[in-house]
Amino acid sequence: MDTANRCPVIHFDHNSQEHSADPIGSYRKIRENGGIGWSEAHGGYWVLSDYESVFEAARDDEVFSSARTDDGGEGLSVVIPKTPMHFHIPIELDPPEFRKYRKIVNPITAPAAVERMKKLVDRHTDGFIDSVIEDGECDLTSVIAVPSIVTVDWLGLDLADWKRYSHAHHQALAGIPSSDDYKHAMEVEFPYLSERMRETITARRENPTDDIISYLVQQELDDRTIDDFEAFAMLELLLAGGVGTTASLVSQSLVWLARHTDVRNRLIDDPSLMDHAVEEFLRYFSPTQALARTVVEDTEFRGCPMKKGDRALLAWSSANRDAKLFENPDDIDIERWPNRHTAFGIGVHRCAGSHLGRYMSKALITQVLERMPDYTVEFDSLQAYPHQGTNMGWQRIPAKYTPGKKVLTDYELY
Ligand code: HEM
Repeated sequence: MDTANRCPVIHFDHNSQEHSADPIGSYRKIRENGGIGWSEAHGGYWVLSDYESVFEAARDDEVFSSARTDDGGEGLSVVIPKTPMHFHIPIELDPPEFRKYRKIVNPITAPAAVERMKKLVDRHTDGFIDSVIEDGECDLTSVIAVPSIVTVDWLGLDLADWKRYSHAHHQALAGIPSSDDYKHAMEVEFPYLSERMRETITARRENPTDDIISYLVQQELDDRTIDDFEAFAMLELLLAGGVGTTASLVSQSLVWLARHTDVRNRLIDDPSLMDHAVEEFLRYFSPTQALARTVVEDTEFRGCPMKKGDRALLAWSSANRDAKLFENPDDIDIERWPNRHTAFGIGVHRCAGSHLGRYMSKALITQVLERMPDYTVEFDSLQAYPHQGTNMGWQRIPAKYTPGKKVLTDYELY
């Protein structure tokens, strides 16, 4: 790489196997050589890797747009390459339009709303651990699937379909586009699930209940009720946000805690350390590794000549390892504070579900440590997500622990 130039052409593709083999090293190289580079992969895109660049671009939505356009192909605008998915609201809108929709989402994901959801999260967490606790061994990802069922339950979708929603979204963000699993998700699962979501939207318009879909279809915007297209676009984004990210964080945290039993024991002895520990896991693992924007006018950004239509990748995970902001960034310090990590994004699109994500992560890690305190992981049999460019994590975690007793007598596993 040319170190004299701040904006060199770099050998980089966040979707490649080469990157998946060492994402930390792959981003470190760019940070150490100016922070910004141009990759020729996927039709070409800028990679923003240092904290200041990511921070500045994420807050400048007049130049770095999230809106869906034809630049860089068709599909979801915030990933590179674009995924063939339905329009998502509000993540694919810029202000001022964006604000009207974000105002609808905020009350259902605010701290007070999450407070009301705690019982639901705790019940599914207890139930999922119950389903394996007597066996003394399991694939821990079966427990880590709690955020998927919580999201499907909370939104008001059919619980019988929760695994299908979970698998389809996992493929969309962490599958390999040429694989059969990915094609099956795109060609068979998403059309089926979209149909089920549309049916539920129609049903809730006719007979509203107290679920989130009923709330969405009753919202007013510009003196009219939101239409089915908008309700679907918001619903599918909440689903996409809810099912994968938290599981990714918890999967990586539990594997790390299996390797670092001293830290695990500290968390067991003093659960009050958990809040800051979860923030540090968010920084260190950055479940959503990177998301994209489109440059909407010719500009010079931190010395780099960007053109209208250029795509740009904002690497949250790399910003989180920037030594200019974080001391010893490649070490986990569960007491690190303050911790200005970028795992939930920055700027107007900062994660709407951060409070829920935090609570679900905390509940799951705390309960696993409480009920399986001596768990060990078969590290040689771990299976990583097939590609780690957007979401990173483990999809198979064989574990053993001392068997325990169930705590619920009335939980039906769907
Ligand atoms: C550990 C858990 C989570 C992580 C790491 C995470 C990460 C992110 C990131 C990085 C963004 C910024 C997108 C951008 O700037 O383009 C985002 C946005 C969003 N997330 Fe999350 N998320 C998590 C949990 C959740 C949950 C549980 C939900 C749903 C209930 C959710 C719903 C959303 C929504 C709706 C947006 C779009 C916000 C907007 O465009 O205004 N997220 N998330």
